[in-house]
Amino acid sequence: MSFPARRPRRLRTTPAMRRLSAELVIAPQQLILPAFVREGLSEPNPISSMPGVVQHTMDSLKAAAAQAVELGLGGIMLFGIPETRDAMGSAGVDPDGILNRGIAAVRAEVGDELVIMSDVCLDEFTDHGHCGVLDAKGTVDNDATLQIYGEMAIAQAEAGAHMLGPSGMMDGQVAVIRQALDTAGYQDVSIIAYAAKYASAFYGPFREAVDSQLTGDRRTYQMDAANRREALIEVELDLAEGADMLIVKPAMSYLDVLADVAAMSPVPVSAYQISGEYAMIEAAAANGWIDRRAAITESVLGIRRAGADTVLTYWASELAQWLKEGK
Ligand code: PBG
Repeated sequence: MSFPARRPRRLRTTPAMRRLSAELVIAPQQLILPAFVREGLSEPNPISSMPGVVQHTMDSLKAAAAQAVELGLGGIMLFGIPETRDAMGSAGVDPDGILNRGIAAVRAEVGDELVIMSDVCLDEFTDHGHCGVLDAKGTVDNDATLQIYGEMAIAQAEAGAHMLGPSGMMDGQVAVIRQALDTAGYQDVSIIAYAAKYASAFYGPFREAVDSQLTGDRRTYQMDAANRREALIEVELDLAEGADMLIVKPAMSYLDVLADVAAMSPVPVSAYQISGEYAMIEAAAANGWIDRRAAITESVLGIRRAGADTVLTYWASELAQWLKEGK
């Protein structure tokens, strides 16, 4: 018999050989921790569909941010859950609103040691749960919403956010936010744009996390799961409007889109491993059906391999802890 001319198995023979041959690594600074702060809480409140994730009090949020610095994470992405909601989402614009107070508290806690990101979207603040305000027919009104996003952006910059994450998928949102920030003197506050954001069933647990009031769906503004090419026009628009970084969301069901975006983007690309992706792995692991740590690591490696420079993941701190411990 003739021997195989190439034996790829040679590079897999020992852990040291596999470590040397690894094409990429996960580093803590590539991880961004999404975190929820809820108004009026006295104790952190567990989110049942996201075991291990909580709605934070102001104090526990500050502690999570301090730990993120300790672990060397790249950033934290903040979401707020207000006590009262209205049709216009006023609590999002109010400098005293829960998200803006959360941003300020985190900034006071960690300064510039961690990139503080915040969600620019109305769904946590509206009583109807949509990402924008509604017109007379009950459709999300794109341009009326943009004006409010501009005001939200200024309030978040004022509170101390370094980077704003518009996630509402309104057309023109990056341009309006850029313009608002520059006009208000926040030229250095950057924008991480949710460029390709799909209408996904995997957001389910997040809706519990923010006590969402949504009835119906977001299909008139978030993208259709069937579409790959359309992501590129969203990316081109966001870049032309001034996005400093891009996000593809969700991650695991959209790795092809992520690879396309990573291949064409001149700015850093992030992917959001969302609540449902977290919940699936936690649920399977809790049942003893998969090895939790191996599955988490593999899922994040897959997202990085598809082209994400950074990953928003609810496991950010735990993963960084594992990296710190080594192995
Ligand atoms: C909108 C927003 C959502 C998520 C992040 N920002 C919900 C949605 O679009 O319905 C979902 C994140 C997750 O599922 O982990 N503000």
